[in-house]
Amino acid sequence: MSIEVNPDWWKTLFDDVYLTTDARSVCNDDLTRREVDVFCELVPFRRQDRILDLCGGHGRHSLELCRRGYGCCTVFDYSHTLLERGQRGASKASCAISFVQGDARSTDLADGSFDRVMILGNSLGYVPDGESDLQILIEAFRLLVPDGWLLVDLTDGRQVKGRFSPNAWHEIEPNVVVCRQREIDGNRICAREMVLSKHTGLIRDKTYCVRLYEPEAIIALVRRAGYHDVRVHRGFRPHRGKGDFGFMDQRMLVTARKHQRK
Ligand SMILES: C[S@@+](CC[C@H](N)C(=O)[O-])C[C@H]1O[C@@H](n2cnc3c(N)ncnc32)[C@H](O)[C@@H]1O
Repeated sequence: MSIEVNPDWWKTLFDDVYLTTDARSVCNDDLTRREVDVFCELVPFRRQDRILDLCGGHGRHSLELCRRGYGCCTVFDYSHTLLERGQRGASKASCAISFVQGDARSTDLADGSFDRVMILGNSLGYVPDGESDLQILIEAFRLLVPDGWLLVDLTDGRQVKGRFSPNAWHEIEPNVVVCRQREIDGNRICAREMVLSKHTGLIRDKTYCVRLYEPEAIIALVRRAGYHDVRVHRGFRPHRGKGDFGFMDQRMLVTARKHQRK
């Protein structure tokens, strides 16, 4: 492995530059609408549901749900920058969404305070400790009401490994270029990302590493966290255009339920 990664990379990567480098996926309202269309087919959202958008970034899915009349969303994320951006967007759209900062492994939110918990846009696999994703899923379980639904949307590790490309770049209008060099290390993909302005030079040079899950592995992990009725739906490709969209291209959706109160 030649790409060295600070284990805490995920605490600083999700900033304003990320909103530019990943704008094709996370600042594209049409794409978010298509994603939410599919989520709503898989999970029965009801108007009065208390919905937690865990690792929700700047809350694009909550904003879209709110626009559709689901009025009680909470976005929880580690990134102050993304939460502030989300808060501004929600105020502009007159959506009463709560934005809460913290670590999804231990949120301090009350037991059983949500009817639906969503972990979307490939938000697992960041903390290097192998048990961290299990901790997040167990935390989501604690936060759900009995019979509540979990929805996880993450990259399909099998597909990503099968179509692995060690180099990718794309231009962002009008003058920024994003270059990515990638390596596979077992179940992880590590990447170096350089962002360059054609006018002013280097904007960012950072590395990160994301754990990949194959369908069987994520099913097993979700079951270990206590859920039942775990289903995986593969082949989720919300992008319409051609291109290398990294972890946001080949995705799988996992639905699961918390048991009913005995
Ligand atoms: C790729 S972004 C996706 C954000 C959002 N779900 C979306 O689809 O736009 C991943 C997000 O997960 C958050 N995240 C990852 N691990 C986290 C943790 N342990 N606690 C809180 N947030 C976390 C990051 O801060 C980042 O905003």
